[in-house]
Amino acid sequence: MRTTEITRRSLLLSGVMVGVGVLAACSGTEPLPQNSPSVPMPSDPPQPQGDRYGVDVYNTQAVADELVYIDENVRPLDREPKRVLITGSTAGAGQLAAAYLLKRGHTVVAHARNAQRAADVRRDLPGLQDVVIGDLRHLDETRTLAEQINALGEFDVIIHNAGEYGLSGPELLRANSLSPYLLTALVTPPQQLSYLSSNQHLGGGLRLDQVRSGGGISYSDSKLHMAMIAIAVARLRPESQVNVLHPGWIPTWMALQDGPYSRDDLRAGYMTQVWLAEGVEAGSDITGKYLFHQQIETRVNDLVHDEDAQDQLLAAHAEQTGVRLS
Ligand SMILES: NC(=O)c1ccc[n+]([C@@H]2O[C@H](COP(=O)([O-])OP(=O)(O)OC[C@H]3O[C@@H](n4cnc5c(N)ncnc54)[C@H](OP(=O)(O)O)[C@@H]3O)[C@@H](O)[C@H]2O)c1
Repeated sequence: MRTTEITRRSLLLSGVMVGVGVLAACSGTEPLPQNSPSVPMPSDPPQPQGDRYGVDVYNTQAVADELVYIDENVRPLDREPKRVLITGSTAGAGQLAAAYLLKRGHTVVAHARNAQRAADVRRDLPGLQDVVIGDLRHLDETRTLAEQINALGEFDVIIHNAGEYGLSGPELLRANSLSPYLLTALVTPPQQLSYLSSNQHLGGGLRLDQVRSGGGISYSDSKLHMAMIAIAVARLRPESQVNVLHPGWIPTWMALQDGPYSRDDLRAGYMTQVWLAEGVEAGSDITGKYLFHQQIETRVNDLVHDEDAQDQLLAAHAEQTGVRLS
């Protein structure tokens, strides 16, 4: 995939402020007065972006089509509903899992990086119980996010789905590795945890010095960390059901960064998370495994199941964050 510092994320983040600047610039040499009704003030609640499901803004057409499919076809499950929290549920696989679980009658709390993305997902998935907010690139926001989640009470299922690709190394360390670690350590443990990794974890490394110093890691490193943390948590919390999975190479916005080449089935890419969360089908009570499409994945980096390496990684994360995971 192409690595770029100017990502959709930074454009999304800067969009409102740029809009204000452009409006001011177009209005002549004098900036508009602060109380002008034509300029969105910082206190104005953000309006959702684009059409429903945000095609070409934050979702691909394939994801939007699948969200329509879910809305029109998925029916409630005749079982006791679960309380589910999904990080990074404003787009892609996380939003699809959230939409599916909502239509099945579960109680779903979404997570958005900021107020704008929260407004977008509230518009897209009107049945959400709540939306918690925090940008995982900033560990102070991740700590506040953990407080928001705990204030909502215990969850049955938490899916650590959020992930970034085209970021600087230090940002990748914080967003994809340190933040899910911190959330796992700080949030009241649910009955079930699922973590999203990637096939690219196969090329990843431990990078303990980088973790300890807050330096840079690659996407592959971060996805190896995700898998190692998941399998370590399964060992440390035997009372919980904990798995890591990869969705395949699916046509979400993230995959677009590498061109329109994704080759795996979009629905299969989010159904493993749904299958685990509902826990009604044979085999869905599995724990401590690296999964792909509801099966045990055989192509797994040896470090994932190496307990000494897991402990070293957890110790480095504890040193960097000041929080020990137990
Ligand atoms: N697509 C693939 O082929 C593929 C392959 C292997 C693994 N994965 C993994 O699958 C997971 C889901 O990816 P996807 O394909 O669905 O990607 P996506 O469409 O880009 O969605 C990623 C989600 O994570 C959120 N997110 C990213 N960085 C965040 C941050 N710093 N703070 C808060 N939220 C953040 C995004 O929020 P915004 O919408 O605001 O950006 C979005 O909701 C990721 O962990 C990814 O690494 C994907």
